[in-house]
Amino acid sequence: MTDRWNPSSWRTKPIQQVPAYPDQGELEAVEAQLAGFPPLVFAGEARKLKRALGKVAQGESFLLQGGDCAESFAEHSADNIRDFFRLFLQMAVVLTFAGASPVVKVGRVAGQFAKPRSAPTEKIGDEELPSYRGDIINGIEFTPDARIPDPRRQLMAYRQSAATLNLLRAFATGGYANLENAHRWMLGFVKDSPQSGRYDELASRITETLDFMRAIGLDPEAHPEMRSTDFYTSHEALLLGYEQALTRVDSTSGDWYATSGHMIWIGDRTRQPDHAHIEYCRGIKNPIGLKCGPSLKPDELIKLIDLLNPDNEAGRLTLIARFGADKAGEHLPGLVRAVKREGRHVVWSCDPMHGNTVKAGSGYKTRPFDLILSEIGTFFDVHRAEGTHAGGIHLEMTGKNVTECTGGARAISDAELQDRYHTHCDPRLNAEQALEAAFLVAELLKKEKLARGRSVPDAAE
Ligand code: PEP
Ligand code: CO
Repeated sequence: MTDRWNPSSWRTKPIQQVPAYPDQGELEAVEAQLAGFPPLVFAGEARKLKRALGKVAQGESFLLQGGDCAESFAEHSADNIRDFFRLFLQMAVVLTFAGASPVVKVGRVAGQFAKPRSAPTEKIGDEELPSYRGDIINGIEFTPDARIPDPRRQLMAYRQSAATLNLLRAFATGGYANLENAHRWMLGFVKDSPQSGRYDELASRITETLDFMRAIGLDPEAHPEMRSTDFYTSHEALLLGYEQALTRVDSTSGDWYATSGHMIWIGDRTRQPDHAHIEYCRGIKNPIGLKCGPSLKPDELIKLIDLLNPDNEAGRLTLIARFGADKAGEHLPGLVRAVKREGRHVVWSCDPMHGNTVKAGSGYKTRPFDLILSEIGTFFDVHRAEGTHAGGIHLEMTGKNVTECTGGARAISDAELQDRYHTHCDPRLNAEQALEAAFLVAELLKKEKLARGRSVPDAAE
């Protein structure tokens, strides 16, 4: 690998998952147009997230990352964004208060449009068409026309990302995220759910704490942390032409940043060390995620860490383990040990979604909630055994009351999947299931803290 990097050096490398655009001239014109558009995020924000993730790498904080598998043009509405953000705040409160841990909040949102596919085509009956690759590339409708990649969709994805981000920024800083509102974040349908009692109890504890502060003369409103929150965006950096067009030099540092989102990650299908996606990501200074699936060997992981984080900067690299409930116990310990042995500073996060996808009898792609919880449990067990920090969780979830993953407190069955199966790609946790998962993670975090408290300080490193 040559050391020379520039925002287009990925173009000289082999690449996976490339859409077959029929008109290269049109694609180039769109990319040129995007290159003139304003950045969606700023380098200073990405640096702030990196510092926050550095704390996670050091075991002092926890990463909550989640959102749609794929954002869609059809589901773009203020209600959807609000419900998602509200759920996110609820989960963060559960982790902060029940898990007694600061939480770094990163949405899979405002840019999560491009999807890697396991097969280039999809067959229904006798008809075979190109696979749907996300709204930024082609249409989900099963027609020859819709499946033709259309570069103009990148402009729509950019504008939707800007609008989504605008609302999220307003929610995060404009008073909605004020901790005083913890009771009000209770979602309509979560209100009478099995989780609502637990959540209400927690919200009451927050209110009591704020009242107590006031009673002893401290004004919670004087602390910006009480009134607003830091919320960051992330997506898979799959469509590199789009990413390149939004890659800009930061005038303060002279470094290159992806300005399409605060954090971007590399998917499990595009992490070949000598290929284009690693080449692009190694040169930008944002925090980076790397999906780690069952085919990743410890020595290959160390090689990837060398490429992506040569300065061993804490917060730069988040390793997102996604093995499947039945495989995590076999694969994760070897990787965790190798990283620890080599003294690499990383955030370890658990994606319990992508290794647990099954086809239900009804024909729907689903994920059994039990398997999701089981992989999270194994993730925490492995880190406890290795003396490392279970640093985060990466979920596909929505604030809506969908029926896409089976199980959970309401025991969604195979037969019920058809009721509200709305995802544009993989099945998501609905708000109740996501909140239930957050309560479980909070318990596991508390356990990790207790275990660390019992060990000698050096061993807790
Ligand atoms: C995803 O996060 O939506 C995804 C495709 O994940 P992975 O690369 O881990 O399969
Ligand atoms: Co997915």
